Amino acid sequence: MGAQLRIAFLLLSLVVLSSARYERYVCQVVEDDWCTLQKIYITSRTDLRGIRFPDDQYEKLRIGQHYDFADTDSVISVFSGGLFRRMSRVRYLRMNAVRMQGLDMPDTVLELDVSNNWISRIYINPDRSYSLRKLKMSNNLVTSVASFKYLNQLEELDMAENLIHLLNFELFSFMPYARNLNFAHNRLLEVRPGDSDLILYYLERLDLAGNQLREIDLQRWTFPSLRMLNVTGNPIQRLDYFELQRAFPRLWRVTY
Ligand SMILES: *[C@@H]1O[C@H](CO)[C@@H](O)[C@H](O)[C@H]1NC(C)=O
Repeated sequence: MGAQLRIAFLLLSLVVLSSARYERYVCQVVEDDWCTLQKIYITSRTDLRGIRFPDDQYEKLRIGQHYDFADTDSVISVFSGGLFRRMSRVRYLRMNAVRMQGLDMPDTVLELDVSNNWISRIYINPDRSYSLRKLKMSNNLVTSVASFKYLNQLEELDMAENLIHLLNFELFSFMPYARNLNFAHNRLLEVRPGDSDLILYYLERLDLAGNQLREIDLQRWTFPSLRMLNVTGNPIQRLDYFELQRAFPRLWRVTY
């Protein structure tokens, strides 16, 4: 009886599987090793089992808008872990202007560009280790980056044009390789220095332009490589010259 049931179940699942739509996406254009996929339409209701990406050949994949003259032609409303498993050999991934709202952070990607979307929900798994070195997420709807502390390999983080209102620099004590941080044009009312002294040896650029900052407390920071600090478009009155010199000895340009 048990065996019969199992066979019946197997037959049933075969019928279900074969009725799922099978879709194989192939590169429309290959340029400098980048595979460009077009006309992809994936929503939270799409059956992912039927999808195949050209993952065994290409490490660099881009979907969505990459040419100014072309209109957005793809939709990936949720980039889920299940979808990522369909393209799991990808290391460089761009999904620009695909109307993405939710993102499960892919753990083995090195560079991710999801600019110009509608992302407000990001899931980062505290039990995973993430290889991500560059994350471009400008022009989205992100309100908090607190969970980014698990992205320990990050060198570049572009969060310009989001809705972040608080930034605690303690976050960057988990990102020792940070080189370029961009939080321009958010809603920052406050930048918290963190509870202990913070030394970021590699940080070269820090962009906080276009926020609501009245002051920045520099006392806990030492960024020996910082060259560019942009605080244009904030109601900051002045920054203490001696604190600036101590915190950022290599600074050659402060814009405000
Ligand atoms: C500083 O930020 C403003 C506003 O985003 C921008 O226009 C300007 O080019 C930036 N300056 C530097 C030196 O990057």
